Amino acid sequence: MATILITGGAGFIGLAITTQLARNTANHITLVDNFSRGKEDADLQAVLSLPNVTFVQGDLTDAAFFQTLPMNFDYIYHLAAVIGVRNVLENPDKVLFVNAISTLYLYEYAKKLPNLKRILFSSTSEIYAGTMKHFGVPVPTPETVPLALDDIASPRTTYMLSKMYGESIGFNYAAKYGIPTTIVRYHNVYGPRMGFLHVVPEMFIKIRDAAANGMALDVFSPTHTRAFCYIEDAVNATILCCESERTNGEIVNIGNASEEVSIKEVVLKIAGILGATITTNDQPDTPGSPARRCPDMSKLKELTGFAPSVSLESGIRRTFEWYKDKLDKRHE
Ligand SMILES: NC(=O)c1ccc[n+]([C@@H]2O[C@H](COP(=O)([O-])OP(=O)(O)OC[C@H]3O[C@@H](n4cnc5c(N)ncnc54)[C@H](O)[C@@H]3O)[C@@H](O)[C@H]2O)c1
Repeated sequence: MATILITGGAGFIGLAITTQLARNTANHITLVDNFSRGKEDADLQAVLSLPNVTFVQGDLTDAAFFQTLPMNFDYIYHLAAVIGVRNVLENPDKVLFVNAISTLYLYEYAKKLPNLKRILFSSTSEIYAGTMKHFGVPVPTPETVPLALDDIASPRTTYMLSKMYGESIGFNYAAKYGIPTTIVRYHNVYGPRMGFLHVVPEMFIKIRDAAANGMALDVFSPTHTRAFCYIEDAVNATILCCESERTNGEIVNIGNASEEVSIKEVVLKIAGILGATITTNDQPDTPGSPARRCPDMSKLKELTGFAPSVSLESGIRRTFEWYKDKLDKRHE
């Protein structure tokens, strides 16, 4: 039996991890979220109806809130954060404030937990962006590349900076207070309930509209490649990283390097899955967009034995199954 806290539990990855962990009825899971982005939708309600899941609405930037939480957690998955390009551009102050303060308060609280076996901190592939831009990185990119910041004055830098700071909190609280910590760096995770401001759901709408209007679809950076990871693989990898002895004190990429595809290939694949006949119009490369982005996944495989198994075709089909009735009710 394990007692588990999931911060950001109403969000995309947090709720998917909860759904998987709750299948084991010996697990008792507490979700915390302030609904700044997570939604109180049918998927959340279904998970909250399970007898081994409890929801607590609260703000992790409120120090007093932590005094209301139980002290018996074995595992903590720290997923809560302010994310997304729009937030980064419009609310860089919130990105810095929430991502730093929530993580500091969580580790301060964790110092007092008698049974804690692990905190898993969710970091990001964005953390490699400064190095990639200014010095170049090997692709597939391993966890060992030195980290560099892009322009410190730019709001765009706030997200990667906040995640670097979070990783540093994890390592330094681990060293000083013996708090077992694992850092995972997610790479392009997609799937049902990820909102509408990501490339896959965005493409569902754009391709549907282009097909309906007989218009060519503009594809920017058409030859640039990316590697997408289906949520089910990301969830299984995350749980293994949190529970395995061998991942304690480690940074691990979570992604899927087995199908690195160009942006244009993704667009055409999605169109095929939607049964939409479209023409595409190649556009210039977006300034700053890296030509290749793909994680080196050998460390995850070596430490946990896990390799992703959901193909891009199958993952997009499963994602569309969830989105197809919701395309007109888009929300963030
Ligand atoms: N989705 C990806 O591909 C991806 C990639 C890289 C990193 N990550 C990281 O993984 C984590 C989860 O990402 P996601 O896609 O599920 O994001 P998400 O926005 O769906 O989930 C984050 C949740 O945190 C909650 N939250 C924000 N501030 C809070 C606060 N002060 N108190 C309580 N709850 C708060 C939000 O309401 C939201 O439900 C994030 O830390 C993100 O940086 C995700």
